[in-house]
Order: sequence, then structure tokens, then C-alpha cells
Amino acid sequence: MSWEESTKNKMLNLQLPTDPRWVDIASMNLGDILVDHAYCEQKAASSCISLILKYPDLELLVDTLTPVVAEEWAHFERVMDQLRKRNIPFGWPRKDEYVVRLAQFVKKGGNRMQQLTEQLLMNALIEARSCERFKLLWKNLQDEELKKFYYELMVSEAGHYVNFLELARHYQDEAKVEARWKEWLAQEAKIISELEMRDDRVH
Ligand SMILES: [Fe+2]
Ligand SMILES: [Fe+2]
Repeated sequence: MSWEESTKNKMLNLQLPTDPRWVDIASMNLGDILVDHAYCEQKAASSCISLILKYPDLELLVDTLTPVVAEEWAHFERVMDQLRKRNIPFGWPRKDEYVVRLAQFVKKGGNRMQQLTEQLLMNALIEARSCERFKLLWKNLQDEELKKFYYELMVSEAGHYVNFLELARHYQDEAKVEARWKEWLAQEAKIISELEMRDDRVH
């Protein structure tokens, strides 16, 4: 079974596919996409580090996310290589409206394990959406090197998506996780439908 078939059902948990016009406009503005992408990788590494710092007592979490930090940082380095190669300046981070909107959906209060569930599910969604967008870039870009690059990142982010969901199910009652996951999926689809489609953002 191909990678695509084996992960299709898991990936397509996302309730709203990206508007196919996004990849058309994004591919015309690869400089801005790569800069935004570099920051996404940086944030992915830093959010794993934050989880490890907040939950050092959770052995499976620490052991699962430690290598993910290294992978995300390696992704960051690889995006930086692409920027340098193309003489695209790195510059300052841009406001990440997608993540801001997701963060607003995090349930306030609750005990620390409930907060952990919220963080893990939010991270799982960001991985899933990134993976979906990388798939579009892989399939639609003309540049052979970038196609291969986005294929590899798509596979890696799919693995992270599974890591976050499995951790959520490990540390919280599964029925509670499933119920909350459905709410998160619906909210993410709503956010995607409301966000302006931009040629300079990964999300
Ligand atoms: Fe990544
Ligand atoms: Fe990731």
C-alpha cells in the first residue's frame, strides 16, 4: 500500500480540504511561502520544547517529543538552506492568524492533564494541516528539488500528527479525547473557511 493510501483516512480527518487555488497562488510566491514555512518549523520545534519543559514527569511524552524537536529543527535548517540558495532574505516573523485563531479555542482552566490534551490536539491539527498543504506543494510545484523536499516533509509531519494524537489518547480518557477531537476538527474547518486565502502563508 502506498504512503498516500495508508495514511489517507487518518489525514483526511481534516474536515475541509484546502481550496485548490491556494497552491496556484502560493507557487507564484515561493519566496514568502518559504519564509513563512521557516517560521512554522521554528514554532513547531519550540512548541515541543515547551511541552517537554511543562511535563518533564511524563516519560512517554518526553521520549516521543525529544526526537521531534530535532526533526523540526532539521526542517528549519533545510528551509533556511532553500532560502539561502535562492537568495531570499529571511526577515521577521509574520503574524500567524491560523495559529492565533486555534489558540483561542484552547479551553481555559481545567487540570494540567486537561490542558495537555488541548495542547496535544492543537498541535496534531497544525501538523495535519501542514501535511495537507505540503502534499499540495509536492504535487503541484514545478521545481523538482522543492517537490522532493515537500514530499519528505509531508511524510515527516504525518508522523508528528500521529505522535500528538497518540499522546493525547495515552494521557487522557479515550472517549473524552475523541469527543474533544471532534470539536477541534470542526473548529479548525471553521477557521480555515474564514481565513483569507493568502499567497504568503503556509496556513
Ligand atoms: Fe516540520
Ligand atoms: Fe511537524
